Amino acid sequence: MASLASPAFGLLWPIILQSLLLLPFFWIFLRVYSWHLRSSNYGRRSVMLAELGYSSKDRKRVIGFFHPYCNAGGGGERVLWTAIAAMQRTNPDAISAVYSGDTDATKAEIMSKVKARFDISLDPKLIHLVFLKSRWLVEDSTWPRFTLFGQSLGSMYLAWEAMSKLIPDLYIDTMGYAFTFHVVSQLGQIPIGAYVHYPTISSNMLERVKSRKTGHTNSGAISSSLILSHLKLLYYRFFMHHYVLSLRTASFIMVNSSWTKGHIDSILQHSDILMNAIHLLPPLLAIKFFSSDHAPARARIVYPPCDTREMSLFALIPRSRTILSVAQFRPEKDHRAQLNIFHRLLELHPEYTQDAEEPVRLVLVGGSRNEGDAQRILELRGLAKELGIDAYVDFIVNASYPAVLDWLSKASIGLSTMVDEHFGINVVEFLAAGVIPVAHASGGPLKDIIVPFNGERTGFHASTLDEFAEAIHTVLSLSPEAEQAMRLRARTWAVQRFSEEEFERGWNESGWRSWVSQ
Ligand SMILES: *[C@@H]1O[C@H](CO)[C@@H](O)[C@H](O)[C@H]1NC(C)=O
Ligand SMILES: *[C@@H]1O[C@H](CO)[C@@H](O)[C@H](O)[C@H]1NC(C)=O
Ligand SMILES: *[C@@H]1O[C@H](CO)[C@@H](O)[C@H](O)[C@H]1NC(C)=O
Repeated sequence: MASLASPAFGLLWPIILQSLLLLPFFWIFLRVYSWHLRSSNYGRRSVMLAELGYSSKDRKRVIGFFHPYCNAGGGGERVLWTAIAAMQRTNPDAISAVYSGDTDATKAEIMSKVKARFDISLDPKLIHLVFLKSRWLVEDSTWPRFTLFGQSLGSMYLAWEAMSKLIPDLYIDTMGYAFTFHVVSQLGQIPIGAYVHYPTISSNMLERVKSRKTGHTNSGAISSSLILSHLKLLYYRFFMHHYVLSLRTASFIMVNSSWTKGHIDSILQHSDILMNAIHLLPPLLAIKFFSSDHAPARARIVYPPCDTREMSLFALIPRSRTILSVAQFRPEKDHRAQLNIFHRLLELHPEYTQDAEEPVRLVLVGGSRNEGDAQRILELRGLAKELGIDAYVDFIVNASYPAVLDWLSKASIGLSTMVDEHFGINVVEFLAAGVIPVAHASGGPLKDIIVPFNGERTGFHASTLDEFAEAIHTVLSLSPEAEQAMRLRARTWAVQRFSEEEFERGWNESGWRSWVSQ
């Protein structure tokens, strides 16, 4: 054990003393710089208002959305634009300023893509795009090593660029860049909110490094070396400590599922004695000193809206005796299990194919992204032959969206076998289309999606082959009245829970309005 008089500490003391002395200067510098940014912000704000056709006397609130990849057209972007559209409808006095790194697109192009991709119409007079040049700093490829750390520092720089271009009245991060919160709260001195899809670092990751298991963030070479493993654990603990500090800077936090809520809530409570102790020493003390702690008690679940308009119009009956799977041919979707389940079903109930008027079929619809997927499909076809069920199994590879909808309108049962799926939009689509789902009893399908509605079933969960086969058998032998009632219930539930209206209510309840009116 090193004592305080050891040479190592002899070297450390001057650093500690010097940083203690520098702290006040740094603090003053930060205050002055923040004051400068905020006072020059009036000018930038008037320019923005003039561009949108308002005078600076118009009382407008500016809500900043930090979403550097706002033109990507994915699920996260649907959340962003739906939130903005709702805000435009309910608060025409609020201007949404979107911080975007898509410098290759214009505002008009971005907005027309939103219309084409998501069918969301936005009022251009209530949107301002703040284009950021340094998005490359948060790209994976910029940081081949220490990716988390690099991207976090990068995002802080990006937030600095954002604040120096425009300081809003409320800042909402919709992409998970929690490390920007310190920069925003120090420079802009404004309230902060977040919509979190996925925790940047979770206690699971810590556990994995601790137990030296090999996962996708933990390469084989590292887990084989004990020392590196310990260093990596320290790195993660340090990182986690700062992630907690950042999240606690926010005034409200929304999450997209119970899975994410579980993680974020436990992160908000996370406390690491070693890290707390280390951060009592300068220069790290400065970080504690400069971070403001609003400690939102808990994250609020606001499910992302799903577009179920088209499928919710399909006729509920009659349905063909089709068991449908809609999933990319990725390994974790576990299509092998689907074939085995179908095989088991036919073993237990051969009447479903033999001499049946309409034999039961299994239809696997999914995209094949690459050579690996194509290979997997070959193997799956082989397995179907081996099991002797190939006459009743169809593979529909790379189906177009209209073709997927067509299957959803005809099928009877929706099968999903992925374990611990965070959400499962395909399962929501089954429900909305009136297809009764049978899904693995874990993750989103268990906690968020296939849950009783008015005290009655909306679908089935299963874990073993036998349970899956049994659940499918149950659906296939429902009386026509019970079948129609369950399909209707499933649809009503999905459309209600994952609707845009429900999403808007969630945003309302997050209390964002109370933070801009102050
Ligand atoms: C939440 O976000 C994560 C990460 O993008 C995604 O995997 C998950 O499906 C999302 N959950 C919902 C309910 O959309
Ligand atoms: C499916 O689409 C992918 C990517 O677009 C392509 O590489 C693949 O060849 C397609 N496969 C089939 C069977 O159409
Ligand atoms: C959200 O709040 C606004 C303003 O109070 C209100 O007009 C709107 O109807 C609310 N939306 C929902 C779904 O509750």
